[in-house]
Parts: sequence; structure tokens; C-alpha cells
Amino acid sequence: MSHAEDHEGTRRDFLYYATAGAGAVTAGAAIWPMINQMNPSADVQALSSIQVDISGVAEGTQISVMFLGKPVFIRRRTAAEVEDARAVSIDDLPDQSARNANDEAADALDENRSFGENGEWLIMQGVCTHLGCVPLGDGAGDFGGWFCPCHGSHYDTSGRIRRGPAPENLPVPAVAFLDDTTIQLG
Ligand code: FES
Repeated sequence: MSHAEDHEGTRRDFLYYATAGAGAVTAGAAIWPMINQMNPSADVQALSSIQVDISGVAEGTQISVMFLGKPVFIRRRTAAEVEDARAVSIDDLPDQSARNANDEAADALDENRSFGENGEWLIMQGVCTHLGCVPLGDGAGDFGGWFCPCHGSHYDTSGRIRRGPAPENLPVPAVAFLDDTTIQLG
């Protein structure tokens, strides 16, 4: 069983919830058909943006949420994990792009992939960039981050590919911190 499936199975720490629907439609019934055509259905809207309560994520742990049909890992890193990630020279990285939807031109320094004052939050899609398996986490692999057992790809504590066939770093989705304990994906 993969790590993400394990989290989905327990649901105890599966903390995501969809945003409320499209908002109140105040217009009269006559123009409803036009509005209906211009807007995606409520369930599609709910999927395009979700809010996640991260208040229960302790340091050194992570949760997985489903977003747009794929797992997203939300990890609250320890100071040692952040330090390890930031000690790596960019020249040692097979993929030197941050793969960060919030800043597509950024390079793969950990500072460009993490969130929070001390960089403690790492939020990224949990899908191996080789052929799409869900990597194992909690310090797995030779670089203390994630390991994809399908063909042996090792990711570091910043989710960057370091060894194996995967060509790219695990991608960071669009993320906004709404407050200290709530993030929005998408
Ligand atoms: S799918 Fe992850 S290494 Fe092949």
C-alpha cells in the first residue's frame, strides 16, 4: 500500500475539504440558463480549488490530500530537513527548475519550492515524474525524502529528483496561505 493510500484509508488525518460552491445566484430564473452555461458545474468548481486545514500537521509529518484527482503531499519539515535541502548545490540537481506553479521561472533552490517563514512547509504533487507512481515518504530513499519503488527514483527533502529515471522534481501546485493554518490549492 502506498503512503498516500494509507492516509486516504485512515481519513483521520485526511483533512481537506472542498470550498463552498459557486456562491449565491441572485439573478432571476430567466437568465439562469445563460449563467449555467457560462459556469462549470458545482462539483467541477469544487475540484478546481480546495482549502486545506493544516493546523493538525505536526513537525516531521505530512498529510496527503486529493486535488484534481492526484495526491498532494503537505509536509511540515523539521529544521534538519530544511537544512539538508538548503545545503545542496544547484549543480548537483538533475532538474534545475523549481517546477513551481507559483513562480515558473524560479530555479530549484529549496527556497523557491517551500513555504513559511523558515521554509518548513513543502507542498507538492505526490506523483513520480517518471511514470506516475505515488512515491513513499517519511524519509524514504537515499536522500531522506521520498522514494518511488516502481523504478527506483530518489527524491530529496525538497522533493527534487536526485537519482533514478524520473526526469523532473515533484511539482509544486498553485498554493496560497489564507491564514497560518489554512492553505488553498488552485
Ligand atoms: S514511476 Fe517512479 S521511478 Fe518509475
